[in-house]
Amino acid sequence: MLLSNKPVIGVVFGGKSSEHEVSIKSAKTIYEALRHLSNKERYLARPIYIDKSGYWHDYVFSESILSDKKDHLIFEKRRVNLTNLSKMEDIDVWFPCLHGPNGEDGVIQGLFQSTGKPFVGSGVLGSALGMDKIAMKSVFKSYSLPQVPYISLNKADFQNNLYMKSIDEKINEIISYPCFIKPANLGSSVGITKAYSKKEFINGIAVAAEYDERIIVEKSIEGRELECGVLGKSIMQSSVVGEVKFQTDWYTYESKYNAHLSKTIIPADLNVEVANKIQNLAIEACKAINAYGLARVDFFYQESTQQIYINEVNTLPGFTKTSMYPTLWEASGLKLEKLVASLIETAKE
Ligand SMILES: Nc1ncnc2c1ncn2[C@@H]1O[C@H](COP(=O)(O)OP(=O)(O)O)[C@@H](O)[C@H]1O
Ligand SMILES: [Mg+2]
Repeated sequence: MLLSNKPVIGVVFGGKSSEHEVSIKSAKTIYEALRHLSNKERYLARPIYIDKSGYWHDYVFSESILSDKKDHLIFEKRRVNLTNLSKMEDIDVWFPCLHGPNGEDGVIQGLFQSTGKPFVGSGVLGSALGMDKIAMKSVFKSYSLPQVPYISLNKADFQNNLYMKSIDEKINEIISYPCFIKPANLGSSVGITKAYSKKEFINGIAVAAEYDERIIVEKSIEGRELECGVLGKSIMQSSVVGEVKFQTDWYTYESKYNAHLSKTIIPADLNVEVANKIQNLAIEACKAINAYGLARVDFFYQESTQQIYINEVNTLPGFTKTSMYPTLWEASGLKLEKLVASLIETAKE
């Protein structure tokens, strides 16, 4: 085999998360972009699949997943022992295409860091803060960034009925109904409830508690949902602003993954001033939590009051061909192939 001196890019995908399937789709997009024309001459792409049990697989089996030619017979034989990462020591840059717990929350970033090789996206701290809605919002608070009023609570306290009276008071004082109840660490709207009454609130806590010990309750904002892409590390840039519209009461799991129930508008119909504010806030939000490389920052915009609220930073946003993040950059003049190359060059920074 000819040895090449191109940097080897390890595209890691799949993973032990409810977003396993989306991750495969994101990886297909990135793997294809890496093997496209100028990128093909520049990089050598290696797919690395993590199955739903958490086992890592070698390039041959991993490629079969991306090309939809999965061969179950070689499945067992092709596992790579994680303690023997030396099998992957030819990787020069890690490219995580993972969403949700284990992939987006700093866990795998810690592992990459320990290999001494650069990786695409945020490090351990930014990833962990971006994943935990309570930690993220408390950092935003300390930077006086605009966000929705919220309270955080603990599943055990709630179950022991310890703080119910004070929770009740806080809901009445700063949140009111309707409100959103969310597990602190999750994504794709899983475990989230919108409650219009105390009864629905108590039910919503039980739902969120199935997913996490830590729960966040937020005031519900009537507003447009806007999203902005961020790229870069020492110099951060933001993309044009996009908007999501959906036919459900709020942006649920169902409307997120059902093309008939939601659509994206890029760029969003906004006046320049509001768009600029959002683009600046997107970078400020990333800097606050130490997120860099790539991120998609989501906002609520209440037109009646002109108020912009930061909702969240996603440190590894969806990356399928139709996903918001690459589409925002395409509309900003950066084509998919260039975007992927830029992410790798930022990682090497
Ligand atoms: N405070 C809020 N006010 C209005 N809508 C909200 C609020 N919080 C969440 N939502 C709705 O729920 C969706 C998912 O919430 P989000 O916090 O973004 O969770 P996830 O990390 O699962 O995407 C949002 O896109 C929005 O439609
Ligand atoms: Mg969201």
